[in-house]
Amino acid sequence: MERKDFIEQVGLSAASILIFGCMQGCSKSDSPAPKPPTGTTNPPPVKAIDFTINITNNPYTSLNAAGGFYVDKTNNIIIARTLTNEFIAVSSLCTHQQVTLDYQANNNRFYCSGHGSLFSTTGAVLTGPAATALKQYKTTLTGNNLRIFE
Ligand code: FES
Repeated sequence: MERKDFIEQVGLSAASILIFGCMQGCSKSDSPAPKPPTGTTNPPPVKAIDFTINITNNPYTSLNAAGGFYVDKTNNIIIARTLTNEFIAVSSLCTHQQVTLDYQANNNRFYCSGHGSLFSTTGAVLTGPAATALKQYKTTLTGNNLRIFE
């Protein structure tokens, strides 16, 4: 075999190996998603928010008066009672950089002391720098029990 023929054959073989390898790596697989290793479990599904508080009990008594609010740090929800006695609830973390919000009853809005973002009672951005709305939750009051839910 001459040197030129040898180089041609080796080059062709190397190119075939590269192309075959790429086709295997780039092709879609019809096989199911891999299972977690034995002894591990999938993370539990995220539960929808649904809880009830008694507004006459600590630490929720601030909700007994119009204009009061309470931040539930377990669920990251701020619950407020407007001056017209409506209960409202939104995510308590600013969508800009996760600073905990306050409720400003006189202006009926949520305020972030981080950089001054303002949110409406439904969680819509009124003033940035936050660009994303807060998640809003539903509320129902039965007696002194306030349910907050999705
Ligand atoms: S963290 Fe709320 S405006 Fe920046």
